[in-house]
Amino acid sequence: MTSVLFVCLGNICRSPMAEAVLGHLISSRADTDAWRIDSAGTGAWHVGSEPHASTVAVCQRRGVPIRHRGRQLTGSDFTRFDHVLAMDKQNLHDLALVRPAEATARIALIGSFDPLGESEVPDPYHSRDTAAYEAVFEQLERCCRAFLASLR
Ligand code: 4NP
Repeated sequence: MTSVLFVCLGNICRSPMAEAVLGHLISSRADTDAWRIDSAGTGAWHVGSEPHASTVAVCQRRGVPIRHRGRQLTGSDFTRFDHVLAMDKQNLHDLALVRPAEATARIALIGSFDPLGESEVPDPYHSRDTAAYEAVFEQLERCCRAFLASLR
């Protein structure tokens, strides 16, 4: 079993999109059942919420199923997941603040896998432009492919 938790601030834009993108990449593999993929936010504002309408729209346009309800990161996530992948450096900072001593997860920026070297995934939440969400999708897709390749 390989388990991956994506983390952003609100858990309605970037991390549920990353969860959907990696899930879709895994869905065409023979070992689909050997994966557990989830997402969470460092903040609690959107607990129980569906992903942002623009995140849902871009996933639908790309044929990527998305299903998630917002939840806040918990201390047990650091032992329940093998990989905790953050979107930006602020997320990494916030993860370090709540990381328990017994944490076993490998913590990294998903952007550290980006073959184009964009280390942070910018927050599209305050953008009215759906192009921002399209750009996040493309960045996450190439990062997730590279992340999978790194595990081989
Ligand atoms: P996300 O975007 O971290 O990619 O889900 C945000 C969503 C909501 C808020 C901030 C960022 N917010 O402040 O409510």
